[in-house]
Amino acid sequence: MPEGLKEAMQAARSRTLGLVAHLSDEEFERPAAAFFGPLVWDLGHIAAYEDLWLNHRLAGRPLRRPELAELYDAFETPRAVRGEATLLKGPALMDYLEAVRADSSTVALGDGALHELVLRHELQHNETMLQAMAVMGRLPETCGTPAARATPLELASVDGADVVIGAGDDCFAYDNERPQHVRRVDGFRIARRLSSNREWVAWADAGGYQSPHHWSGAGWQWRSENGIDDHAGARTGDPDTAVTHVSYFEAEAFAAASSARLPSEFEWESAAQANVLEGIGDAWEWTSSPFTGYPGFRAHPYREYSEVFFGDAYRVLRGWSCVTADRIRCTTFRNWDLPQRRHLFAGVRLAGDA
Ligand code: AVJ
Ligand code: FE
Repeated sequence: MPEGLKEAMQAARSRTLGLVAHLSDEEFERPAAAFFGPLVWDLGHIAAYEDLWLNHRLAGRPLRRPELAELYDAFETPRAVRGEATLLKGPALMDYLEAVRADSSTVALGDGALHELVLRHELQHNETMLQAMAVMGRLPETCGTPAARATPLELASVDGADVVIGAGDDCFAYDNERPQHVRRVDGFRIARRLSSNREWVAWADAGGYQSPHHWSGAGWQWRSENGIDDHAGARTGDPDTAVTHVSYFEAEAFAAASSARLPSEFEWESAAQANVLEGIGDAWEWTSSPFTGYPGFRAHPYREYSEVFFGDAYRVLRGWSCVTADRIRCTTFRNWDLPQRRHLFAGVRLAGDA
């Protein structure tokens, strides 16, 4: 539905600029951590992506600033080197964003698919930016927080079924959500809500970080090499809200110590369809599934969106978080990240066999 797309792009731009309005130049321009680029990189990248896909590829116009293409390509200039690169900042950065937008506002929508891609790309980067701001301890005040849920942790049973997985052709979806297909999902149990800060602290206080017993080999090695022995955020957060900013490795150990496991992404999607998941959107939910292509996967519109991440290295996260923009909240969406990453607004929902 191309209707309202250009207005939505304007609203996304206001959101992007609003999210960084409270930062000093110094905070805006320095990386929050080694694995983050500076926030100014994200802004330049948002503009370069829009210029590439709308002005250049869709409308056939030359790039506005071809000399910036490499700098703002996520693969040519990976996060680790963005801090050293000479990036646009201040008025030059704002001019670039505005000039690209002025050009793209005259590009015919066609079926709207590329505009939607560019719009969602900006909203995806909003969350990356918020991850960095969380690491800096500089989240904007307008930012959402997970809801308090004081209910006891109950596991719902979901019967085995042939489940329709993935997005149909009637809506926007990324290549990795297609093709839609039927998959047998055996009966399982899954928690009605996410695990809370209180439950996490109880696990930590019971020695969860000190004994290798419930950890995977890779997880224990990561924990030991990085001196991960507690989760400060779980202690300072509201005890009744979902724990966030946990890595897959920790989530896996926490689940095992709770006589449970993480759900697979297909169990999660099946449970979402069965309407037993409360608190979707309190935090991203780590699943046990590696990020791979669905049977018959076809890369679109480029291999670097999803396909190059397929394999054993990344884990799928499902749902969305309290800082995810409304437009990109979707139960077929597949997020992915490395199992050691702690900077996501990600928590854990316990699961078990039937
Ligand atoms: C879907 C969040 C994993 O940030 O790497 C941004 C989204 N793709 N620019 C990412 C994305 C290209 C992607 N995630
Ligand atoms: Fe990007």
